[in-house]
Amino acid sequence: MYQTLLTALDNGIFSITINRPDKLNALNKSVFDELNLALDEVQSNTEIKSVYITGAGEKAFVAGADIGEFGGLDKEAAMAMAKKGQDTFFRIENSSKPVIAAVNGFALGGGCELAMACHFRVAAENARFGQPEVNLGLIPGYGGTQRLTQLIGKGRSIELLITGNMIDAASALQFGLVNYVVPLAELINKTRSLMQLINSKAPIAVGKCIECANLAVSGAGGSGGGGIGVGGFAREVEAFGECFITEDKKEGTAAFLEKRKAQFKGK
Ligand code: COA
Repeated sequence: MYQTLLTALDNGIFSITINRPDKLNALNKSVFDELNLALDEVQSNTEIKSVYITGAGEKAFVAGADIGEFGGLDKEAAMAMAKKGQDTFFRIENSSKPVIAAVNGFALGGGCELAMACHFRVAAENARFGQPEVNLGLIPGYGGTQRLTQLIGKGRSIELLITGNMIDAASALQFGLVNYVVPLAELINKTRSLMQLINSKAPIAVGKCIECANLAVSGAGGSGGGGIGVGGFAREVEAFGECFITEDKKEGTAAFLEKRKAQFKGK
């Protein structure tokens, strides 16, 4: 069905593999178009509980936006390109179904930005992260200046942005950019085992956790003069109430009291 992606659904876990290994999985226009179609599928298919994104081959997750498509763009066209990338990555970030990046090699430029738009990251030992756009006379355009700063702090972020340096998986772990570093051969197993755990939880509650956590670090968290994330606190109160009237809340609390495993339905 897709030319630039491989997808598979297994036991509620949907995998999206960016599949241009000869170009280190660089993100061209077709990849973005197909990523959006895959995200439509994630939204509409109730069999899909969670998603992981990885890259084909053993060398790269994604080595960036496809530099071959940069020629001849004027300012407006370049802005439209950045906007399309940002909109696609907002869809990932705001997905109520968890999206995890399984980073199997270079995650550079748009690849690092794609990984950062995911809800969290599991890295293989050979993963390398960086925003090398300054080497091209450019800056990140798919949210990199914002998410890198949110994830690793301003000093470290600005250093990476203005040196274009790459960091290895161990540094990414130390900086909090990734949650785990595992041998490449174990990357997908580790990712899937985390997803199986998440898939056993109440899906509505999982979605609302993501929504509220996003509000803590987005402009939408809004301060209203009262501090970062005040809008997130208000939304948390409301979402907490919304969970209370779900069937899954009844099932979860009953299962606890009856000392059995809860069977959640996402209702
Ligand atoms: N866009 C388009 N093509 C890319 C690409 C990108 N971002 N990154 C890699 N490729 C292509 C290379 O042009 C090469 O294609 P070719 O075989 O047709 O010449 C192929 O992928 C393999 O890459 P190569 O550079 O030969 O591999 P390497 O092991 O020597 O170096 C990298 C790996 C990742 C260090 C290097 O490819 C690189 O610096 N890529 C660009 C990273 C970048 O600047 N990303 C931000 C873009 S905004």
